[in-house]
Amino acid sequence: MYQQRQRTHSKTYELHPISIKQIQKGHPWVTIDQYSEKFHPKERFIIASNRHKPFALLIHDPNHKQVRARVWATHGNFQKQIKSFKNDLTARIKTAITKRTKSDYQKERDHYYLIFAEGDNIPGVLVHYLAGEILIQFYMDFWNQYKEFFIQTLTRAINEIMQEDIDFDNIWVQSRSEIKAPAKCSDFNTSFRNIEVSEFGVKYKVTLGKHYDHGIYTDMASIRSRLKDQISKANSLLNLYSYTGAFSLFALNEGVCDVTSVDLSEKYLAWLDENIKLNKQLKSEQHRLMATSTIEALKILKKENKGFDFIISDPPSSSSDGNKKSNALNDYKEVLPLIHNVTNTKGKVLLFINTHKCSLKRFEDKIKTIIDQKKLSFKIESQFYLSQDCPHKKGFPEGSYLKGLLLTKND
Ligand SMILES: C[S@@+](CC[C@H](N)C(=O)[O-])C[C@H]1O[C@@H](n2cnc3c(N)ncnc32)[C@H](O)[C@@H]1O
Repeated sequence: MYQQRQRTHSKTYELHPISIKQIQKGHPWVTIDQYSEKFHPKERFIIASNRHKPFALLIHDPNHKQVRARVWATHGNFQKQIKSFKNDLTARIKTAITKRTKSDYQKERDHYYLIFAEGDNIPGVLVHYLAGEILIQFYMDFWNQYKEFFIQTLTRAINEIMQEDIDFDNIWVQSRSEIKAPAKCSDFNTSFRNIEVSEFGVKYKVTLGKHYDHGIYTDMASIRSRLKDQISKANSLLNLYSYTGAFSLFALNEGVCDVTSVDLSEKYLAWLDENIKLNKQLKSEQHRLMATSTIEALKILKKENKGFDFIISDPPSSSSDGNKKSNALNDYKEVLPLIHNVTNTKGKVLLFINTHKCSLKRFEDKIKTIIDQKKLSFKIESQFYLSQDCPHKKGFPEGSYLKGLLLTKND
C-alpha cells in the first residue's frame, strides 16, 4: 500500500534489507530481488528508503538482467537532486576529467580512462581517451535518455579542461548492455577508423567501429608500468592469452630478446604482427607467435625444453579451446603445473583473474592450494590491482574485477 502511494508521488521504494546494508557499506548496485522488481519500469530515478526513511537516490535500469539500479547519491535532498541531475552530472564529468589532467600517466601514454564508471561516481559508463578519439561505453540503458546531453557535455568538458579539439566525428558510442555490437561514430558518415595509440614508447593499432573490442586493454596499462623494472631484467618472456600483444611489445621494447606470444585467435595474432611492424625499433625475429591453446602451447614448449624468465597469463574469465568451455580459475589447476614446467629458476610468473566473481583472497587461496597439491616450487610474492586511471570504490568488488598475483620459482 505504502509503496504504491509513494511511487506516484515521490518515487520512494523500500529496498531489501541486504541491499540497504550493502549500500551503507559503499556498494553502489541494487540487484534483482522481490523488492527491486516492484520498481515501476517507467521510473528513471528511485528514491530508496529504509523503513520509510529515504537514504539513497538510484538511477534505474529496468531492462538489466542483474543490476536493476545504481546509486547516484546517498546524501542531500533527493527530490532536488533529481531536478538538478544534469547539472550534477556535468560537475561529475568535469571532476573526472580534471583528475586525469593532474596525473602523470598522461606523459607516458595517450590512451587512458577519462571516466571509470562507479569509480568516478558516474555509474555504468566508461569513457576512453584514445589518442584524440573518445570512446563512450554505456553499460546501462538508463543513459539512452541522456545520450545527447552526455556527449555534448563530455565533449565540451574535454575541450575546455584538456584543451583538445574534439569534434562529433571523434566521438564513438557503444552500448555494452545487450547485443555485442561495435561502437558507432557520432558522425554517421564514418563507419570505422584505424588509429595508433602509444604507451611507454610503443605504438599499437586501435580500430574503432569494427569489432566489439578495439585492440588494447587500457586497464592493463597501469600494471605494465608497475612491471617495467622486473620485465626489463628478463631475457625471455612468454605471454599467454596474448590478444594483440600489448605485453609482448612492451617486453620487446624493454630489451627482452626472446618473446613468445600464445593466443587461440589467428586474427589477434595477425593484429599483434601488425603492431610489431608499426614499431621500427622492435625486432620481429626476437618474437614468436603460437596460434594454439595455452595448454597445447605449454606442452609444445616443454617438449622443446624451453624455459622463460617471465611468464604472463591473462585468460578471459571463461574460455574455450574449441572443444570444451571452462573457467579461468579452475583452469589454473591444469595450467599452473604446465607453466611451472617452462619457468626458469628464479623466474617470475604473473597470473591474472579477470572477473569480479572471484575475490583476490579466493584467487590467492586457490593458487596456494594448487601450489601445495601439485608440489610446485612457486612462492606468491605480490598482488596487482587496477590503479591510476581506473579508480575503484571500497566495498565494491565488481569495480575491481582485475587481480594479479606475482609468483617466483624457487628451485
Ligand atoms: C583478456 S584477453 C588478454 C588480454 C591481453 N593480456 C592484453 O593485455 O592485451 C584474452 C585472450 O585470450 C585468448 N584466448 C581465449 N581462450 C584461449 C585459450 N584457451 N588459449 C589461448 N588463448 C585463448 C583470446 O583470443 C583473447 O585474445
